[in-house]
Amino acid sequence: MSAVPRALRPARRLAGTLAVPGDKSIGHRALLFASFAAGRSVVRGLPPGADVATTRRAIEALGVAVRDEGGAVVIEGRGWDGLARDPAAPARALDCGNSGTTSRLLLGLLAGRPGCFALSGDASLSRRPMGRVTRPLAAFGARIEGGETLPLTVAGTRLHAARVATGVASAQVKSALVLAALQADGESTIEEPEPTRDHTERLLAAMGAGLAPAAGAGGGPAWRVAGGCPVLAPLELAVPGDPSSAAFFVGLACALPGSALAVRGVALNPRRTGALRILQRMGARLRFRVESERPEPSGTIEAEGGGLAGTTIAGPEVVDAIDELPLLAVLAAVAEGETRIVGAAELRVKESDRIAATAALLRAFGAACEELPDGLVVAGGARLRGTAFDARGDHRIAMAGTVAAALADGPSTLTGGEWVTISYPAFFEDLERLAERA
Ligand code: S3P
Repeated sequence: MSAVPRALRPARRLAGTLAVPGDKSIGHRALLFASFAAGRSVVRGLPPGADVATTRRAIEALGVAVRDEGGAVVIEGRGWDGLARDPAAPARALDCGNSGTTSRLLLGLLAGRPGCFALSGDASLSRRPMGRVTRPLAAFGARIEGGETLPLTVAGTRLHAARVATGVASAQVKSALVLAALQADGESTIEEPEPTRDHTERLLAAMGAGLAPAAGAGGGPAWRVAGGCPVLAPLELAVPGDPSSAAFFVGLACALPGSALAVRGVALNPRRTGALRILQRMGARLRFRVESERPEPSGTIEAEGGGLAGTTIAGPEVVDAIDELPLLAVLAAVAEGETRIVGAAELRVKESDRIAATAALLRAFGAACEELPDGLVVAGGARLRGTAFDARGDHRIAMAGTVAAALADGPSTLTGGEWVTISYPAFFEDLERLAERA
């Protein structure tokens, strides 16, 4: 992407009502799962960002017909065989762009599809670990060549049932293994060290897949997955708003006295509301209520401005707030007292090294922080000063930095602001609409 610097201004307060783009995690899954459903799926509210468009292009490249129809996306699933290709044909090239979810879920899905598939990604994705997916997939008999990172070539084959542990608390890894297990020749068990977002389980169970909780040997959650390429019902789905996108506005509203913000129609799956719970613990005047349970819990978030206090973010709540940690670190900089984020080494292997990127961001704005191998210590009580900063090719760093710029005492400049298009193309427009300037 080109790097056109963008001028950012401080904000006095945020006021109004917001509807954020559809949830990225649910959006990827809806498209992928519809691609092997038996029939026509209709999905509304898919996020407009580049990441989910990457998944759409991937299923189209696999031969699935996808079209826009009156605000919905229609996917013509032809069952599992609709994704099969001639194993003797040259490898089908699949560009996964910047998207970890696209690449990792495709590895699990294509491991069991006849054919040869060549997965690649952009510079950021090509640095991210894939061995965490390919190693446990090998227990199913998957044949994936190329090593620890993209590009990788999948030689789809018959998979056998297995009992595997994800080893890392990652919904992407778990989902890849579930997709392989569905195609295996019997019942598989997948264990995780701790609960991660469960959109895959919810959606596939709604489509008729045999997924049931099981006892994990390691004390964490586990799932039994019935194999045999079950015939799965197509989806009729409205994707709720993305809480990870909403968090930037909610967090900024909480930190700016006099703000009053409502975000409607946003996903409130408990595995995605960790940042909201942490903000409440920091003293934020924040409420959220679930108004609908299907297809996923969703509802309204209301936030008012006030003071924030530092906190410790550790243990299982880290995974429930993983994508919001850079934002929480920015808010911690202006909170009263110290904030410690620990047990978050996963941040180092996101779209950027988000521990290093967040520390650099905070220091550029004049906040004191210490980088830990697995987190950050943020001093708190900072008066942020406007500065020039770089998104480091990471949409969430671009948006967390924009929140810092809104809290700063003078103008800032962002290089790489166009990275917001990965998850939230209208981010700056929505901010402009809601922000009252100083
Ligand atoms: C995601 C899972 C998380 C998250 C990512 C989306 C998903 O990644 O950080 O933004 O859709 O499953 P990991 O599975 O690597 O933790």
